[in-house]
This record gives sequence, C-alpha cells and structure tokens, in this order.
Amino acid sequence: MPTPSMEDYIEQIYLLIESKGYARVSDIAEALSVHPSSVTKMVQKLDKDDYLVYEKYRGLILTSKGKKIGKRLVDRHDLLEKFLQIIGVKVENIYQDVEGIEHHLSWNSIDRIGDLVQFFEEDPERVKALKILQEKNEEEM
Ligand code: CO
Repeated sequence: MPTPSMEDYIEQIYLLIESKGYARVSDIAEALSVHPSSVTKMVQKLDKDDYLVYEKYRGLILTSKGKKIGKRLVDRHDLLEKFLQIIGVKVENIYQDVEGIEHHLSWNSIDRIGDLVQFFEEDPERVKALKILQEKNEEEM
C-alpha cells in the first residue's frame, strides 16, 4: 500500500491527467505546494514501485496499477467531501478537512461512511431531520 504522502501524489497526478491529459513535475509541485525537487524524488520512487513510468523529458504516465489506485483515491476524496457536506460542515472547511483525514481512515471506515452517505441520499427527510437536530443544538449553545 502507498504511504499517505505517496497517496497525495498519486491522487494529484491522477487528477491532473484526468483534467489536462498530462502531469508535469511543475504542475504537481504547484498542486501540492512543494518544491519540484521533492516531486522528482517522489516520482522516481513511484516509478520504482510501479505506480507510474517517468521519463525525464517526456513526462510521466500512470501504470494500470497507478490508475486503479488513483481512481480509488479520488473517489475516496469525493466521498468524504460529500459526507462532510451532508452533515453540515461549512463549505470553507471541507477541502482542508478532507485532505487532513483521508489518509488516516481504514477502507472499512470509508465503506461505512459510504453507506451513511447513501442512507442520507436515499431520503432527503433524513437530511432534514439532522438539520433540525443541529439547529436545536445551536440554540442551546
Ligand atoms: Co485529497
């Protein structure tokens, strides 16, 4: 399994390739707010572990293993954003909070959160009931 830091890179590379068709070292560095030399180092490690193929002047491509994991990581990120949004977390907190927790939950927890998101999505009344409870809690504060 990739480490949290490797996960961040694979996730960003997957997103960049999805949106632009390619991922350059400079784009990855910008997306992750890190120095390009750190990107080069990590990209070499990811190449060694067979997540991608890196050729210095031609850029990089994800292997099928890299693509599969990249999609899983992006889906996990999206699910956690949806989860925080449904439970009423303020929009301005959502992205950073997801970046903070996504690497630290087991896939077991992710799957159960998926069930909960589905539970709320299947019946808008459930979302409304939660909202009523939250408004009541806020009044008491
Ligand atoms: Co993320």
